[in-house]
Amino acid sequence: MYKILKAGQLAANIYEMVVDAPRVAKRCLPGQFIIAKADEVGERIPLTICDYDREAGTITIVFQPIGASTEKFAQLKTGDSFRDFVGPLGQPSELCLESSLEETKKKRILFVAGGVGTAPVYPQAKWLYEHGIEADVIIGAKTKDLVIMEDKFKSVCGNLYITTDDGSYGRSGMVTKVIEDLHEKEGKSYDHCVAIGPMIMMKFCCLTTKKYNLKTIVSMNPIMVDGTGMCGACRVMVGDEVKFACVDGPEFDGHLIDFDAAMKRQAMYKTEEGRKLLEFREGKTHHGGCGNCGGDK
Ligand code: NAD
Ligand code: FES
Repeated sequence: MYKILKAGQLAANIYEMVVDAPRVAKRCLPGQFIIAKADEVGERIPLTICDYDREAGTITIVFQPIGASTEKFAQLKTGDSFRDFVGPLGQPSELCLESSLEETKKKRILFVAGGVGTAPVYPQAKWLYEHGIEADVIIGAKTKDLVIMEDKFKSVCGNLYITTDDGSYGRSGMVTKVIEDLHEKEGKSYDHCVAIGPMIMMKFCCLTTKKYNLKTIVSMNPIMVDGTGMCGACRVMVGDEVKFACVDGPEFDGHLIDFDAAMKRQAMYKTEEGRKLLEFREGKTHHGGCGNCGGDK
């Protein structure tokens, strides 16, 4: 059992929990995820790690209830426990590797964080800051009340640009407008961008950054289901290569992803008929596991 040391809300329908998970906290890096299960019969929910404290042995997760299992998570209180809390899983962010730190230090980095996707950006900005790199960060939210983690970001980034769709706080408009304004009106330019948020946001961020020839990494966490490489839900074409977000990612070069195809596949995967059709079309590459085991049956 994994005790919830602190349970709270960051905004309406956005929950934050600090979980006692020393083995995960000891080894995780920004960009990796955990799989949580509320009880024995609950669904496995993959969530990108939003913060970790190696000394305290804790992992922070942030989530938005979108189904029965995450609804159940939201009802858990301080002192309750998760039945399972497995990780760290997936590949760390390429920006947060000691092995390429000297190269990373030469880059001007921009993070684009949208809605709930703001939370997984935080450990990356924090890791870079702790290694002497101050990245710029754009946070986008629908409205003022949905802007999360502003103060936490202020202490770990260079410039922080906040924008709301309705103009109720910070700048007005979507994150893509800020990317354009920074480049076209405010004399900024970057070498590396990381965009994390809803699929549609990541799609339009990539279309925008292509104009500036700005390499853009995205997190394909939203298409993951079981997080084990077995169910086939997170299969995604990256250029002409078949990848599985939960094993090879979750982060990929966004300019190599066909977001329309990925969103269409995500919708198809939700029905049994759709899964059967995908399995038929994709054959042995449908699953990330052995390819023959029928992991989603
Ligand atoms: P949201 O719909 O409020 O969008 C957040 C921001 O994204 C907006 O304020 C806007 O600036 C930008 N955006 C949205 N649509 C856009 C468009 N068409 N063009 C340009 N910019 C656009 O976000 P939300 O409701 O918090 O998002 C929930 C989604 O976030 C869930 O579907 C979840 O899957 C996803 N999510 C993704 C990750 C990840 O790792 N990629 C992590 C957590 C959550
Ligand atoms: Fe990656 Fe199931 S979530 S294969």
